Amino acid sequence: MIKRVLRTKPVTAHSETGLKRCLSAFDLTLLGIGAIIGTGIFVLTGLAAAHQSGPAVVLSFVVSGLACGFAAFAYAEMAATVGGCGSAYGYSYAAFGEVVAWIIGWILLMEYGMSVAAVANGWAGYFNNALTAVGLGLPEQLTKAPSLGGMVNLPALLIILALMIMLIIGVKQSAKLNAAMVFIKVLTITIFVAIASFNVHPENWHPFMPFGWFDTLPDGKTVGVLAGASLVFFAYVGFDAVSTAVEEAKDPQHDVPKGIIYSLSFCTVIYIIVSGLLTGVVPYTELGVSSPVAHALQLMGYHWASALVSTGVIAGLTTVMLVLYYGLTRIIFAMSRDGLIPPFFSQVNAKTHTPIRVIVICGLITATIAGFIPLGDLAELVNIGTLAAFVLVCGGVIMLRKTQPHLHRPYKTPYSPLLPVLGMLSCGALMAFLPALTWQRFGIWLLLGVVFYFAYSLQHSKLRK
Ligand code: ALA
Repeated sequence: MIKRVLRTKPVTAHSETGLKRCLSAFDLTLLGIGAIIGTGIFVLTGLAAAHQSGPAVVLSFVVSGLACGFAAFAYAEMAATVGGCGSAYGYSYAAFGEVVAWIIGWILLMEYGMSVAAVANGWAGYFNNALTAVGLGLPEQLTKAPSLGGMVNLPALLIILALMIMLIIGVKQSAKLNAAMVFIKVLTITIFVAIASFNVHPENWHPFMPFGWFDTLPDGKTVGVLAGASLVFFAYVGFDAVSTAVEEAKDPQHDVPKGIIYSLSFCTVIYIIVSGLLTGVVPYTELGVSSPVAHALQLMGYHWASALVSTGVIAGLTTVMLVLYYGLTRIIFAMSRDGLIPPFFSQVNAKTHTPIRVIVICGLITATIAGFIPLGDLAELVNIGTLAAFVLVCGGVIMLRKTQPHLHRPYKTPYSPLLPVLGMLSCGALMAFLPALTWQRFGIWLLLGVVFYFAYSLQHSKLRK
């Protein structure tokens, strides 16, 4: 039995899959930025500043950026060495064996599913803001989840259904569209930075750390810079998407590591600038709203810029959702192909050439979640899952260097095992700063996964033969 659950998938040379190899290091960097910049910086910065970090939210970004940096080197080595489009799931299949791979795959399902719903919530905040600006604002009951005093977040629910239809008819996330969206997002941020730079009131940065480093409140909520770091970590989620494009890269062994590291560095710098300015232009207590960047511009009296930024965010977040939704269906596909989930999920519709079943099931589930669960809860669940995956990918680098020392490694994590160990420690610490409720929900999800593995996947795995 132990042998069966620990069986590993052999690492094969990068195979030709028929996909066109057309992406350069620059394209891959853009792909990363397209997937990374989203609800995290545009919404969670405000929530974290108002409720957890205060102006020190900028430090929260530094802390979680560091943890991601360590993990990024590990991802780069794994993507260059193991490859495959299954990302962390595929790497653990090679490094740790089937049961760990299954757990990672199961966690990735939660990560991607919940992040589609979370980004939809961020999108809805700016959408409502734009509607309100033209006098068409929806009643509050229809823009908030029940636990926030509303009935349903209708725009968040509907945008996912709209994306679902787009994916069914086969709308492709193309490199060109992505580049255009990256341009819009960076332009939006530039507008904000340009205006905010001239409107900083340094007194807004005092007190800098009103909630300290870390504390747990009687209601179970966590506060402080480190709790803020474990929330804004969400803003970095998505750089691993670059690793799923391995089969379309011109020179995967060199360009994928570059794409991962460049996109992460670029976003970290942007996040530090934006969060520093945001808390400098208005008091942090004003930022706990669903569209904080637009709100800050309004408070400064720049109504045109607020409208422009809202429009940019609405467009930019649409691609983030598409990338994540795509990622979700791709992981289900990979797991289904390996026999770990039923073949029902890897069937492609003969007419549209899209996996309609998976798209519809994922769409209905994530749309419901987006409508009824608030952004903060969703982001924390995404983060705990992603951090767990990061810990395992860092561990995978160390493990694979031991078990397969002669494997060709076109890219090597520098200072191994120091950097991977630092990655495991820092990502593990960020997990520890998440609230107990998030841990409980995560535990239940894992338990369901283990039951499913022993009830189904163990017997149906393709490796059985
Ligand atoms: N990092 C992505 C975002 O912030 C998921 O929306």
